[in-house]
Amino acid sequence: MTMGPSVVHHAHVGAARASRTSGTADAHRDAPVQPPPPSSGVRAPEASLILPRDFVFGVATSAHQVEGGLTSNNWADWERRVRPDGSAMVPPSERCGPATDSWNRFEEDLALMRWLGVDCYRFSVEWSRVEPRRGYVDDAALSRYRDWCCELRTAGVRPMVTLFHFTEPIWASDMGGFAEPPVVDAWVAFVERVVARMGDLVDDWVTVNEPVGYVVQGWLRGVWPPGLADPGLAGRVLENLLLAHAAAYRVIHVAASGRSAAAERECRVGMAHHVVPFRPARRANLGDQMLARALDRAYNHAVPTALTTGHLRLRLPGLWRHVHHPELVATQDFLGVNHYFPLVARLRLRAVRGLDELDVGPSAHGVVDDLGFDLDDASMGEALVAMARYGLPIVVTEHGVCDGEEPDLRRRRGLTDALVTIARLLHEGVDIRGYLHWSLVDNFEWAFGWTAHFGLFRLDRPGLARTPRGSARLYRDLIAWHREAGPARTGS
Ligand code: BGC
Repeated sequence: MTMGPSVVHHAHVGAARASRTSGTADAHRDAPVQPPPPSSGVRAPEASLILPRDFVFGVATSAHQVEGGLTSNNWADWERRVRPDGSAMVPPSERCGPATDSWNRFEEDLALMRWLGVDCYRFSVEWSRVEPRRGYVDDAALSRYRDWCCELRTAGVRPMVTLFHFTEPIWASDMGGFAEPPVVDAWVAFVERVVARMGDLVDDWVTVNEPVGYVVQGWLRGVWPPGLADPGLAGRVLENLLLAHAAAYRVIHVAASGRSAAAERECRVGMAHHVVPFRPARRANLGDQMLARALDRAYNHAVPTALTTGHLRLRLPGLWRHVHHPELVATQDFLGVNHYFPLVARLRLRAVRGLDELDVGPSAHGVVDDLGFDLDDASMGEALVAMARYGLPIVVTEHGVCDGEEPDLRRRRGLTDALVTIARLLHEGVDIRGYLHWSLVDNFEWAFGWTAHFGLFRLDRPGLARTPRGSARLYRDLIAWHREAGPARTGS
């Protein structure tokens, strides 16, 4: 098995002589604008969409949303529960069930990735599959994940492994979930097992997916498990997730350096941050502006700031928290950005006592996705520029469009706009290494169940056949063209 450089390192090769951001950008600027057409005959994209040849293109999924047959995690439990009035949390037709059956059809999905020509597959390892009962480790499950990594690498697709993507074993929820330090310790022990088993095959790691989104949905809005609206606990969970991340960062690096100096150099650990540009609903309204700024600080910047300075500061109505943990500092090798949509904020005149009273939502003025969120070609740029201030290489760890229409014109437009934005920002000096599209195949979309379609491939239920959408063909052509004719980053 050959071990190539990590996603982050991969795109950095050749830029080493120059300084971090300007070096990469200068190199890109020097590149020929119109490289020769590829022999495959794929039509060259618009000049504004030309990315460096070593730019990483990929797709992303998460275990609960695709694997199927997961019955021992907090989401499976949530889907089985009923509200006090007798209604289901998630209607029966919306339960995850077999998901896309990726657990059994991984090879079929890998064939789709090969057809697309992607360089990277981001997937998560399901804690409840590896440790369905506390202290009992299912070795066969770990072996299966290990096999996936082998098969991916053989196919030239780099595995990027997420260690926490919203799901935990029921026994961990029963212990209080991430509000409780023993659960943090148990999760770190799980990370040690995964790293011991797969570390030699994986260079790119995402510790925690969207910690703020998870806390907002599950612990503040109560629309995801554990279904709470408790700002005090929410702050504690966020703090514990950051401590868990920092511990995982060290576990992964210690294991890599134990293997070899080269393994340590290639190993890159980050977090996937959900970044939402917040805009004032009424542009000139001072109250709306203030609220948008406060939300931006709490939602987008509190976590990356904590991982830079050690200070976690949350200042929102009903949620006021300041803690200092020096061990959080410098625990990201790259900054993962998950970006989908902007939101607008409106300050109501009456006093806001809690977060549930804030008026925040989509503007829904222009083109929207199937869930009603704005499709706005400026917001990806805003999200990336906002994260660039942390001085780390950026990987777009998720972006996609919920579009179940045929043809999927909104997804194609969103994909193209995102890549044009990335090409422009690279040119302006923002260090962006890769783009992972959410998602490969339509999958189980949490509280929206099966009503939301994010796949490059359509999933026909119940047979689970996968059919490429127009966006899949577009992505495939773009990748093929860049592989063959994309400009070198160094201009050499
Ligand atoms: C989450 C995914 C989700 C996607 C689309 C992201 O915030 O990480 O799990 O499916 O958004 O809503």
